[in-house]
Amino acid sequence: MRHDHLISAKQLSRGDIEGVLDRAAEIAADPGAFAEAHPDTLLGLLFFEPSTRTKMSFGAAMKRLGGGTIDMGSVDSSSVQKGESLADTVRVIEGYADALVLRHPSEGSAKLASEFVDVPVINAGDGAGQHPTQTLLDLHTIRENAGLDDLTIGIVGDLKYGRTVHSLAHALTNFGATQHFISPESLRLPRGVRYDLREAGAEVREHADIEAVVDRLDVLYVTRIQRERFPDENEYRQVAGEYRVDVDLLESAAPGLTVMHPLPRVDEIAPEVDETDHATYFEQAHNGVPVRMALLDQIL
Ligand code: NCD
Repeated sequence: MRHDHLISAKQLSRGDIEGVLDRAAEIAADPGAFAEAHPDTLLGLLFFEPSTRTKMSFGAAMKRLGGGTIDMGSVDSSSVQKGESLADTVRVIEGYADALVLRHPSEGSAKLASEFVDVPVINAGDGAGQHPTQTLLDLHTIRENAGLDDLTIGIVGDLKYGRTVHSLAHALTNFGATQHFISPESLRLPRGVRYDLREAGAEVREHADIEAVVDRLDVLYVTRIQRERFPDENEYRQVAGEYRVDVDLLESAAPGLTVMHPLPRVDEIAPEVDETDHATYFEQAHNGVPVRMALLDQIL
């Protein structure tokens, strides 16, 4: 990859993406061969927001490469509570670790952190901004299940605040995918994201109903309404439960439709869908380990 820091999916060329995914496939086929790839390497985990998958799979990935992790722990138990700035926190932890993984509620925080340190910074989610490593595992999952060529994907849910959406949609412009964006009017893609996608050559097709497009899709990427980002709880309540993917809806889908979700889900995918061949979200979550191993291997 051309960059030390991974802040945005906009940095990633098709070649960069294929490089990581090819390596991830090699690792998945024979993880033991990489067990000593990065001994004595320490990855710093700085999560200022809740995380299960991203934090644990980065930890697992680093350990499976022979390295270890140090973890700031929760905001409540760190010096952030005493008023320490993000810049000071990362300047201190760069002295303890060989690379930093940062999740933070403010958009632009990973970029800011990267300006204060010399070790690589990996953005694990900056507010409603970007989540590029989720995108790499999403692309890996798409490549394994539907292929990245001639792809038609529907992305449904919270397109406004969903950082996984912003990163994935941009990365898919490298592959010329046909993208359908399905959301309530109030949760449409932000203007800036739409502009960037058009600049990258994508046509932005927007819909209010999944039914309008489900029969054309190779992949349906479902997202959670990002309750924690709404300035007003009433606004959240107006759109909560707007979309629910269930077996009735999937009757109109192609038999090979791949249903994905970055997780956690609330109620946007009915549990009964888990038993169908469409359900790919747990496999998707598991792909976080080989893909993050591949990424760390390249960045380190
Ligand atoms: C996502 C996130 O944090 O943006 N989760 C994840 O990393 N798998 C999606 C979400 O929280 O809805």
